Parts: sequence; C-alpha cells; structure tokens
Amino acid sequence: MIDIATRIADLRRQIEDANQRYHALDAPEITDAQYDALVRELEALERAHPQLAEADSPTRRVGSAPSGRFPQVAHALPMLSLGNAFSDEEVGDFVRRISERLARDVLAFSAEPKLDGLAISLRYEGGVFVQGATRGDGATGEDVTANLRTIAVIPETLQGSDWPQVLEVRGEVYMARADFERWNAHARLHGGKVLANPRNGAAGSLRQIDPQLTAQRPLSFYAYGIGLVEGGALPDTHSATLAKLREWGLPVSDLATVVVGVDGLLAYYRRIGDARDGLAFDIDGVVYKLDDYAGQREMGFVARAPRWAIAHKFPAQEQATVVDSIEVNVGRTGAVTPWALMQPVLVGGVTVSRATLHNADHVARLDVRNGDTVIVRRAGDVIPEVVQVMLEQRPAGAVPWSMPRHCPVCGAELVREEGAAVWRCSGELSCPAQRVQSVFHFASRRAMDIDGLGERYIESLVEFGELEDVSDLYRLTLEDLLAMKRRADECEGITPETVKAGKVATKWADNLIEAIDHSRDTTLSRFLYALGIQHVGESTARALALWFGDLALIRHLPWPLFKRVPDIGGEVARALGHFLDQPGNQQVIDRLLARGVRIGDTRAPNPELADVLDLATLLADLDIPKITPLRAAQLGSAFADAQMLLHAPAHTLVTAGLPADTSSALVAWLEEDANAALLLRSAQAQQQVRALLPERADAVAGPLSGKTVVLTGSLSSMSRDVAGARLEALGAKVAGSVSKKTSLVVAGEEAGSKLAKAEELGVEVWDEAKLLAFLAQHA
Ligand code: IVH
Repeated sequence: MIDIATRIADLRRQIEDANQRYHALDAPEITDAQYDALVRELEALERAHPQLAEADSPTRRVGSAPSGRFPQVAHALPMLSLGNAFSDEEVGDFVRRISERLARDVLAFSAEPKLDGLAISLRYEGGVFVQGATRGDGATGEDVTANLRTIAVIPETLQGSDWPQVLEVRGEVYMARADFERWNAHARLHGGKVLANPRNGAAGSLRQIDPQLTAQRPLSFYAYGIGLVEGGALPDTHSATLAKLREWGLPVSDLATVVVGVDGLLAYYRRIGDARDGLAFDIDGVVYKLDDYAGQREMGFVARAPRWAIAHKFPAQEQATVVDSIEVNVGRTGAVTPWALMQPVLVGGVTVSRATLHNADHVARLDVRNGDTVIVRRAGDVIPEVVQVMLEQRPAGAVPWSMPRHCPVCGAELVREEGAAVWRCSGELSCPAQRVQSVFHFASRRAMDIDGLGERYIESLVEFGELEDVSDLYRLTLEDLLAMKRRADECEGITPETVKAGKVATKWADNLIEAIDHSRDTTLSRFLYALGIQHVGESTARALALWFGDLALIRHLPWPLFKRVPDIGGEVARALGHFLDQPGNQQVIDRLLARGVRIGDTRAPNPELADVLDLATLLADLDIPKITPLRAAQLGSAFADAQMLLHAPAHTLVTAGLPADTSSALVAWLEEDANAALLLRSAQAQQQVRALLPERADAVAGPLSGKTVVLTGSLSSMSRDVAGARLEALGAKVAGSVSKKTSLVVAGEEAGSKLAKAEELGVEVWDEAKLLAFLAQHA
C-alpha cells in the first residue's frame, strides 16, 4: 500500500509539473502520449484505491492556474476538459453509459475534429466582441482580448441580429500547418524563434504580452461550442448551435457533422483518421458530443469533464526515441542536410527511423547529440523532424555534433555560405549526388544550349550509368540515346511498337546528337556559367570572361584574384575558388576539353588589371584580421613582395608602421600554413596574369571601338555568340536590335527582318566572308 501511495504521489507531481510546463510556460518536456499515459495510470490507481483519491488530484482539475502575466478573467461557466478514449471498446462503453442512463437506444452525436491548439472563450455583448480569455484552470483564465483581436478570422461584430445579448463562444486557437512550416523555415534561415509544433506556436503566440508580436504570428480559430448565454435563446441541439454560430460569422469546421450510434462514431473516426495527414491543421483526435442539450443536461459532469462528450484520440504525432547517429545527406543542388537515424518508433501510425534536422544551425540550437533521447514529430505530409532533446536523459560523455568537412558522397569540401544556414558540397560537377542537376543546368539554353535533352532523359541516362558527369554528354552515341529512350519509355509503360514511333525516336536522337555536337563551339562566359558554380550566374560568368579572357588562366587562379573583377565579392570569389580547388571538378573540365569543347573567344586579360596586381591589393583582398586597405597599403610599400613579407621578422612589421595588435594579428595569420601558401600562390598568380597583359594602348583603341554591331542570320564558320565575343574583343558593342545607332550589321544565311531594317536605314552590312576577312586581319 505504501508503494501505491508513493506511486500516486509521484504521478501527481509529474502531472502537475507537465501541466505547468504545457499550460503556463508553453514549453512541454514530455510528449502528449507520455502525458496521457501518466494520467491513465493515475486514474486507474485512484479508481482501484478510492481511499487514496483526493479532491485536488490533477485527474479532477483542468489545465493550470493563470500565470499572472495577464489580468484574470473568472469564467461565468467553467471551461472543462474532455475524457479520452483510446480504443473502439472505450467508445462503445461511452455510448452504452449514455444509452443506459437516458434509456434511449438511438443516440445522435455531433462528431468534430479535435484541433490541437489552445481553448479560448470569446464574449460578445450586443453582437460585439468585448473580451477573450484562455481556459486557465477552468474557473479563471487570462485576459488575452488584445491578442485575440489580431486574429483575422475572429469577427469583431456578429452578423445577423438574432444572437443573444450575451454570448460566450468557445473554440480553439490554432496555427495551420503551412503557416507553421513557413514560419519555421523563415526562422531557421534568419535566426528567429523556431516553434516546436503548431500547438506550441499557437499557445506561445497568444500569450505574448505585446499584441504586435501576436499579430505577426499566423493564427486561426475554430468555434466548437458555447458558454454563457443571456438575453436570447439558442437551438436545442449542439449541431444546430454550430450552424447558428456559422451564420453569425464565426468560423466552424466543415468536418463537424451529426452521426448516429457507435457505428456512426467509429466510421467518422476512420474517415477523419484517413484524411488526417492531408488536413490543413494538426488534430489529435475527434470529439463526440451528445447532440441534444436535454440529454446533455441529464448526463451532467464528472470532476473536470462532461459525461456527454469524449475525445477519441489518434496515434500521437510526437514520440520520444533515441538517436543512433547523425548523418548528412547531399541533395541534388549540393545542399547538405543533417539527419538523425533513430531507434524505430511509431509516430502518427507510421514507423519512423529517420528524421530531418534541417541544417547545422538547427542541430546546434537543439544541441542534438548521438545517444540523445529526442522528440520526433511527424504531421501531415511533412518529413518527420526532431523538435526537442530531453536533456535530462542525455548519456554521459555525449559530445556536440559538428558538420563533417567533406562530402560523404564525393569527398569534396563542404562549404558554408557566409551568413546562410546552408552548407554545400563544392564538388558541383563531380559529385554523384548533383549529377542530374549539373547536367540539366549544363545543357540549359543559356548555358551550353543543348536542345532536346529534357530532365527525364537526363535522369534515365544517369540512372543507366551513361552519364557520370557532364563530359560524358560528348561521348554519347545514337545507339546509347535510343537504348536509353527505349528503357525509359518501357519503365513508363510506353511500348513503341509502330515503325512510325521508331522513326520519331531516331529523329529525336539524331537531332540531339547534332545539338550536342553544335554545343561544342562555345564562348568562355557560356562555358563558365554552364559549370554550375555556386553564385556564378550569367553576368558573373560574363564579367570573369571579360576580365581574365582565358579558361586556362581562370581555372588555376586562387580565389582572392577573383575579387578584382568588378561586382565579384568575397562570397562569390570563395565559391569559385572552392569549386576550382576540387580535383574532381578540374578533371571534368579536362575531359570536356579533351572531348572537343572549344572556347572560341579566348583573349588576353583586361589591361586595367595592371593597376591592381600588387602586394597591397592582395593583402587587402585576403580578409586578414585587422588588415584594412590602409594597413595593406603600408605593407605594400614596405615590402617588395610576398616572400619578403612572409619571412620578415615580426618587429619589421611594427617598423613598417603597423600598430602592435595589427602586427600580431598578421603574424598569427601568416603562421598558419594554409594562409602562407594562399598568399604565395596568389602572388604568383598575380605575376602570371601580369605576364599575359597586352600593352594597354592597343586594347583601349580597338578597331571597332565606339561601334555598335548587330549579328543576324546564321554563320557557318562559328556561332553568333563566338562572333559577337570576338567583335567585342576588338572594341565593338554587340546589340540585339537594329536602330539608327547601329554602325554595322553582320548578316549570315537566312537573315530576315534585321537585315531588311538595316537596308532601310542605310546601315552598313557585312556578309560572313567580310567578317572573316576582318577578323583575320585583326587577329
Ligand atoms: S469541447 C466541455 N470540442 O480539447 C467540452 N474541445 O481535451 C469542452 N478541443 O479544452 C471541449 N477541439 O481545447 C471540444 N471540437 C472540440 C475540440 C475541443 C479541440 C480541445 C479544447 C479542450 C480540449 C479537451
């Protein structure tokens, strides 16, 4: 007996504690399922040992007392809780009890979804919303009127005119799943408050002291009943009352309906259970309420719940389990996502053994470690996620997790973008995880422009092992393509039996082979863009081509030199550097060139670079702590070159005019081998670029400087892009349409309206032969 009394006391304490955390602090530490189990056990013990039951046991009370943060509101009628049913039998018992007491065989119930949010009472006087309160301990709640006014679906005034003078509407404030997901996605990326689940989100939001904060959170409301009614009458069934509430402009769930008998209830339970994952909001069960008020009155209440209603619970959407390991997954865009691999656990009716941890920041914020007990949430179609760590259950010696340095798929470095939560694999071209995406981008119109190679075919070619990387495109044969298409079509159940279908396929493959072949002739900017380097879009690719001119040069430059291109900042420069530092990516570039990709517009670097290829610029570009452009300039004039700086005794830095702390920051930086190597490599690269610079005078006055050229029609010897780039290299500005300002039109085969316009305006026109002669003359 002592043991049972101790257990009862223990259960009461645990439940009180959980109530406090759930209702007052909005920070539960156990799952709903664990809470329900504690309550069930206590109820059973109290039933079996009535002498140990107490009036203030948590089994007889509702929620928890108001926090004191808000003014208190005494509820005119208590706000009660509901008893739970977890099985069909328990639902049967519930119906039988009512049937027996009312001596009725046929019972109609209002069946409704049980929304997982926060119970609220709204008081309308004369049709105007005057006060809103939380449930609190059922007798006294908190006045959250100002916060409730920020919820758009709660009407300020009721529609119609047949409402009672005083009407208390009861219902649930909740956060829709999509709103919750959107909120969290934003918070995870921008460092806001991440909500553990929509219920927590709703409760926490509503209990903000500042209504402005509540207004920012996307909250909704459904009415499910009434409290005090004065100065007017309501219908005599619950379902008719819900219909009235709807008429008066209050939101009532469309899923609420009237069903008859146990069979009706259970059918409803299964229907809503099947629909659960697809609903816009979380529900943790359904609620059955005897529909007629006369019957309700006769049934009355037990301690904290009506006898005429019950909640029939669904499998919980949150469960506790143990993390076996934390691994990372590389997506098709190279984004790296950490995952928890866990002891399998049933969540919302589905066995779950993997849950997303979203990103490294999320792991750090939760501080999830191997061996931790965590709460996993699976709701709707959303991927299961880890939402909380049970810190008190952490095994001794568990160490914080950190992102691996290298891609688990290809071994390339993982890189974190500055200020962003996402880590990426820098093996863009060579990482198998990114194959489909990299080929898709490579072939796209503005990159290598390979027409006819849709994503579906790329996926099949990758799947059948025909494409290890983009360079394999240039090895594909007609037979490879036809075999792939046959298999891909078969997988989709398409069987091209007819001769005509065969011909169509051959034509498609012929065209594709031709398009691939045609794409071999390209420009430097298209090629750079096609590599799919993080942050290198078309305009960055164009700027790189314009400033450095040559792939052979660009591909071996260290990142600080890229900062010399206007509009390229540290983030882009580093992304480029990371990409080029991966041997796998360099090998793919080698293979592309070996398989016949030709860059037609190679040229010398921009002579303006001459002004910025010095030690001072380099030191300013390297992001060395405390080295401002001014300090870099001082160092640049004090030391002849990087070697000298590297081998300079520390005191000479001070002699060069550096304050002591700046000089020690520089010494510390230089002492790291990787930094010293980067400095020397960058200085060498500067010399290499310098050696390639043309005489400045030549380039400034190109033979086409000041001329605007338009290319039209098709050229047989090169693509229009290549021709345009070569003309640009000679000083021309290449434009897309002919106007009075056009100096020259180059017209290839089948030139159309642009040629006509040029002739009309009397603009000079060259044919391909004339263009080639001119280019040869100025080569
Ligand atoms: S009726 C006297 N109907 O569930 C009956 N409650 O565990 C009082 N809830 O506090 C409640 N959806 O927060 C009722 N359709 C619904 C409900 C619902 C959600 C919540 C409500 C209540 C709790 C009881």
